[in-house]
Amino acid sequence: MARKATITGLGNYIPPKVLTNKDLEKMVDTSDEWITTRTGIKERHIVEDDVSTSDMVYVAAQKALKNSGMTADKLDLIIVATVTPDMPFPATACLIQERLGAEKAAAFDLEAGCSGFVYALSVATQFIETGVYENALVVGADILTKITDWEDRSTCVLFGDGAGAAILQATDKGGMLAFDLGSDGSGGKSLYMPGGGSLNPSSELTVKERQHYIKMEGNQVFKFAVKIMEQSSVDVLNKAGLKPEDVNLFIPHQANTRIIDAAAKRLRLTDDKVFVNLSKYGNTSSASIPLGLVEAKEKGLINEGDIIVLVAFGAGLTWASTVIEWNEGGL
Ligand code: ACO
Repeated sequence: MARKATITGLGNYIPPKVLTNKDLEKMVDTSDEWITTRTGIKERHIVEDDVSTSDMVYVAAQKALKNSGMTADKLDLIIVATVTPDMPFPATACLIQERLGAEKAAAFDLEAGCSGFVYALSVATQFIETGVYENALVVGADILTKITDWEDRSTCVLFGDGAGAAILQATDKGGMLAFDLGSDGSGGKSLYMPGGGSLNPSSELTVKERQHYIKMEGNQVFKFAVKIMEQSSVDVLNKAGLKPEDVNLFIPHQANTRIIDAAAKRLRLTDDKVFVNLSKYGNTSSASIPLGLVEAKEKGLINEGDIIVLVAFGAGLTWASTVIEWNEGGL
């Protein structure tokens, strides 16, 4: 069988501090009832002020390395998917390369909004399938709460922080069977942060105009998400020669239970095959899918040989999905 890439270890970091819907009721004009019924979120974990994305990545990466029985010096590649790097440059992946002591690893960040982790898996997979690299660390990590406008009730109730990491290695059995990636830049303005880049460099004006916060047209993103979650899942299953009924577990990006329910219904997936944990974490952006993988694994919902579908959408707009035949053994 052809050489494939497979996940041989997972790790996560979830900040201990919890912000509940009741807490938010005291901050903006909202209610636990509205947030629960419109999004499915009950609480989210948020970092303290002195925690950066690389701090979370470091912990998640160490756990993933330990779980795969690998040491950092063996890593050939580190990709960190994030929209909230420690700073514009150097890449958070390079900060991690140094902190882990991954002496021979190439390192870069990848930015594809909430689809970033699955995009990054696809990139690492190419390097492994072609035999260029043996061992890759792929991380999805975001601190959206530091670019959240806490005066905007339509966005501040949605997000939480976290990091999830995976070690990828070669296998001759199962592993990453197929990917489906895409983008639609025409929807870029429905989810963006205008300030701080080369177009609108940070200035008194950008701060005054609250340009350093997430701006979102929720309805536009919602419609896009429902359609693309179904379409991308069907496309990636087709590429793998499989059908929705072959799926053991579907792990969608955790943004809104109504989006997940609508996509699952269109795919005719029963509730027991759809992993949902956003009531506890909210939308953790790039971390959402790997956090789901870690939790599903811990709960015994992922076993050797299972067919797992990961599907995400996010800023860009972007989407990404993959089919995995679970095999933690590697070569
Ligand atoms: N509390 C109470 N009322 C609220 C709140 C709130 N927190 N937020 C909005 N409302 C009000 C609105 O003002 C509006 O009131 P109006 O009718 O008087 O104008 C009403 O609730 C309905 O607002 P809608 O925006 O139409 O609500 P909707 O049902 O669309 O839900 C939501 C909004 C939850 C944002 C939904 O559109 C959504 O989940 N969209 C997808 C967002 C998403 O997934 N984004 C992340 C993408 S991934 C990434 O890259 C980060």
